[in-house]
Amino acid sequence: MKKDRKRILVTAGSTIEPIDPVRYISNFSTGLAGYEIAAACAERGHKVCLISGPSSIVPPMKVKVVHVSTAREMMKAIEGLSGKIDCIVMAAAVCDFRPVKEAKRKIKTKRGFSLNLVRNPDIIAGIKPEKEQIRIGFALETGTIENCRKKALRKIRKKGLDLIVLNTKTPSLDPFGAGRKDFALLWKDGREKRLKGITKKAMARILVEEAERMMR
Ligand code: C5P
Repeated sequence: MKKDRKRILVTAGSTIEPIDPVRYISNFSTGLAGYEIAAACAERGHKVCLISGPSSIVPPMKVKVVHVSTAREMMKAIEGLSGKIDCIVMAAAVCDFRPVKEAKRKIKTKRGFSLNLVRNPDIIAGIKPEKEQIRIGFALETGTIENCRKKALRKIRKKGLDLIVLNTKTPSLDPFGAGRKDFALLWKDGREKRLKGITKKAMARILVEEAERMMR
């Protein structure tokens, strides 16, 4: 393998957490950001494994894709990878919670019902950092980028990240799916790069260039 050809793991999409055989909880993630990042990595000649939650997007060429549903499946798929990974890009919107128990039969809702939730494992925080491995996370918050910066910086420390991509949901800004979005790249050393009104494809290309710089 060429020296500057890196092995990159990208996660994408939401996870879905079953309630019963016909229902689940999840979030609005489409997977687009992660798929664009995987495509940008492959275009630059890197060896990419994309671990994806449910998504209707056609996977990029020259990328190994592993499909999963739940957060625990995503974690197992990552644990099952062998060999050195130079860079992890954790773009998946992993469900923070799952129903305590998946009902075996469809729950009858005539009288309503309450759902007990339990925390899912924090996947990226649980991955032991490898030597010289770059770890990139995503943070989606409600509020402006200014108001959410501190929260994102806390996540960098808590999850052992080198860089976090912050995007936010406001009444006028929808971070999900296609279109022009605002992002902030925040590094663990306090450096920051703002990306305003750009597509996820453009963000992905910039992110991959930054990751390459960090892997040098
Ligand atoms: O949901 P949260 O804001 O904590 O997500 C921040 C980062 O942590 C994201 O990169 C996400 O993929 C990752 N994450 C994870 N396992 C979870 C929840 C989030 O790896 N259970």
